[in-house]
This record gives sequence, structure tokens and C-alpha cells, in this order.
Amino acid sequence: MSAHGRGLKPLVALQELGEATNACRECPLGENATQSVFGEGPVHARLMVVGEQPGDKEDLAGRPFVGPAGRLFDRAVAELGWSRDKLYVTNAVKHFKYELRGKRRIHKTPAQREADACRHWLESEISLVEPEALIALGAVAARSLLGRHVAVMSERGRWHEDAAGRKVLVTLHPSALLRGDPEQKAAAWKAWLADLSLASKVARAARAAA
Ligand code: URA
Repeated sequence: MSAHGRGLKPLVALQELGEATNACRECPLGENATQSVFGEGPVHARLMVVGEQPGDKEDLAGRPFVGPAGRLFDRAVAELGWSRDKLYVTNAVKHFKYELRGKRRIHKTPAQREADACRHWLESEISLVEPEALIALGAVAARSLLGRHVAVMSERGRWHEDAAGRKVLVTLHPSALLRGDPEQKAAAWKAWLADLSLASKVARAARAAA
């Protein structure tokens, strides 16, 4: 059923939520970022994909996963036969954290307190979208969703359950593949696709329902 069929309220609420994250100063990150980067995708997407935080390109564009990590994610989506525009894609942390090196803005992993401060935005997003399942890309997303430390390498490639009983698939963040040992790239790619493919049933059902 379309967003209209289920009422415009969640759509408007998501838009308002996005605007509110832009004004958020519950942690220091908002002060130095260009803007917040809120999630995007169908309001009642079946599958929600959660990354860590926007990077440089996302901060400038105001959209999630449009930089190098996003391109790798898009490649995986294409290989798996999913459709990105049927996924709701967001981040655990809504503002870009970086340090300046000359003119370059270098990504810095958000501190736990920063991810914790952002947690309620993500929770509100999840409550409005009501996905059937979620994918956590990397440790920050996994911790935000599962509320505990997650050892990604040993917990990847299987479904976990969050406190509300929602299904959460844990896997690597695409940046980990971009940074990885070039000799291991093909194997890492294959393993990542294998992890993600566990969510294919949900992703493809979303595509079929289009
Ligand atoms: N990395 C993320 O986790 N999210 C983005 O939106 C971009 C890069």
C-alpha cells in the first residue's frame, strides 16, 4: 500500500523529524556540520538500512550514502537484484563528524555519547517507517540498534533481535571494504554480499510490492 494509502501523517512526521535533526545541538556535532543528513526512502519501506554517520559528500548533499561508501552499497544492491528506491536508508548519527587536515575534512568515528544522543532520532524514524527488518552497517549502527557492544566480525551475517523484537542483520560498513587489504577484496566482497543476501527476501518483497 502506498504512503498515501496508509495516511500522510507518517510522511509529514518524518519530514518534521528531519528538520528537527537539523536544529539538534544535543551533542557538539551539529555545530560544525553543513546540515543534518536524515534518512530517505519510502515512508513504509520493508527494509531499513542503517549506516554510521554522513561523510563529507553526504554532509554537502544532505543525503545519505551518496559518496564512495554509498556507491559501493549501490553496487551491492544492484548485484543482489534489490532496488535502492524501495529501501529506507539512514544513519545512526545524523551529523558529520570530522577533523580538519588543511582543507580536507577527515571522517572521525562518533563517540559513544554522540551516538547515544542521536539514538532517539533513529528510534523515532524506525517507529514511523515500521520496517519489517533492519540492516546495521558496521559497529556504530549495530550498537545503536541493538543497545549493546557488537563485535561485527563475529556477529556478522546473521539476524539478531533488538529490544522491541525487530530483526536486525549485522554486517560490515562498506567503508571497511574500501579500506580493506586489496588482496582480500574479492573475498571480502563475496562475504559481504552473502551477509546482505540474508535480507533479500524482504528487499525483493518490497520491490515486488512496488
Ligand atoms: N557512511 C555512512 O555510514 N553513511 C553515509 O551516509 C555515508 C557514509
